Amino acid sequence: MKRQPAAFDHGSGMPMLSSRQGRFGYRPPRNLVGRGLQVKRREAGGPPGSAVGATFHAADMAGRYKQAMRTLAAPVLLALSAVAALTAGAARAQDSARGAALYRALPGQPALGSCISCHGEPINNRNSILRGAAGPELISKTIAAVSAMGFLRQYLSDSDLADISAYLATIVPAGPLESLPDLWPTTDDFGAQLVGTQSAPRTVLIRNLQPREAIAVGTVRSADPVAFPLQHDCPISLPPLGQCRISAWFRPQAAGPAGAVFAVLDSSGRTLREGALTGAGAPELPATLAWSAGTPELIDFAQVPLGQSMQRTLGLVNPSSIPVGLTRLRVTGPNASRFTLQAPCVAAGRLEPGASCAVTLGFAPSAAGRVEGWIDLVSDAGNAPLVRIAAAGVAAPAQPPSSPASMPAGESSSGGGAVSAGWLVLLLAAVAALRRKRGR
Ligand code: HEC
Repeated sequence: MKRQPAAFDHGSGMPMLSSRQGRFGYRPPRNLVGRGLQVKRREAGGPPGSAVGATFHAADMAGRYKQAMRTLAAPVLLALSAVAALTAGAARAQDSARGAALYRALPGQPALGSCISCHGEPINNRNSILRGAAGPELISKTIAAVSAMGFLRQYLSDSDLADISAYLATIVPAGPLESLPDLWPTTDDFGAQLVGTQSAPRTVLIRNLQPREAIAVGTVRSADPVAFPLQHDCPISLPPLGQCRISAWFRPQAAGPAGAVFAVLDSSGRTLREGALTGAGAPELPATLAWSAGTPELIDFAQVPLGQSMQRTLGLVNPSSIPVGLTRLRVTGPNASRFTLQAPCVAAGRLEPGASCAVTLGFAPSAAGRVEGWIDLVSDAGNAPLVRIAAAGVAAPAQPPSSPASMPAGESSSGGGAVSAGWLVLLLAAVAALRRKRGR
């Protein structure tokens, strides 16, 4: 592995780290606490059933630890230990704490999504992110190979990647990954909210993608239930192909950025899935962004034959009397790369009072199968809710769109957007199967 000149590297990294602390300054301890728990679990050999995660990283740990010791300059260690003093861990823990921060935000680049924007919380292993625990070389190769990730190279040095890899190595899923529920979205930014007031709720879906096994859902817990209260409608046993919803609110207690990790725990208290909620407390009533009237919560392209493409245009509006700074507008989610998004206001980085911006969403399937994503936005105003998008690539020649193309009535009402046509069919089938069973 090519080693960067350590002092130089970290010399340039440190001011950025402190600027990050400036922005998210009072939040790291909460994250560290969460992560500390994971680290402890690992060191204890992991909970029963975590064999996958444990064997996964064991071989690398010693090597990575040594390498970290060699590459980290003494002043860096000193500065980092101030941050990581809470965890009072060894150099590896400090490493992974820095990696956790880099996983969430690129150094000095709050507008650009770091790993979390596409992969969500790592415990969800979206797009095999946990493979990154194998070492910085694998991450580096992936960045070179996956075009969506290419932009990351200019912001992250090899030692940054080593820290991220060390962080990923601390994440131990509670069981075989395929038996865990599916959680989306895994990050949501409420944007600005007047201190002391409560936002509209936002919804996170939890699904059991297994056709036969139920998943025991114990609790859903917010790391900050005061600023980010949660409610969920998950049954104790989430049936095969079933889904449930978490509703989250933002209630800023003070001005400035806020964030909390929320976790879905099983009945024995093990973390199944995690997500992150963020927002900013505003001292005065902030501007808000909204989707134009009539925009559904779910945009479904239904079936699109391979080789064809489809577009849909949405309106993003600024109904307030002050301009809104728009930092980001993009598709996130499990199949984000299958969709395209164009919007003139993104290049401008701004939406004037009363103005509207045409956001063009495109889908051109390269493979058959159902895909989904979420249109996610970050601004200095109250953010419009995420719009969920779904589409299915079908083999050409096109089959005439059959019944699922029209959405059930509940789709556009809040929360009803949870069930897409495909899901509904699966759910109905599962319910019918259950009834039959009970009937016997
Ligand atoms: C713009 C979206 C995006 C961002 C940001 C992103 N990734 Fe990825 N990443 C992907 C996609 C898409 C894949 C799946 C590629 C595939 O399977 O072909 C992937 C795959 C991976 C994999 C799996 C590679 C494998 O061998 O299977 C790792 C590890 C990974 N990314 C690490 C990272 C890390 C670390 C970061 C942050 C520094 C990051 N990614 C940021 C989109 C992203």
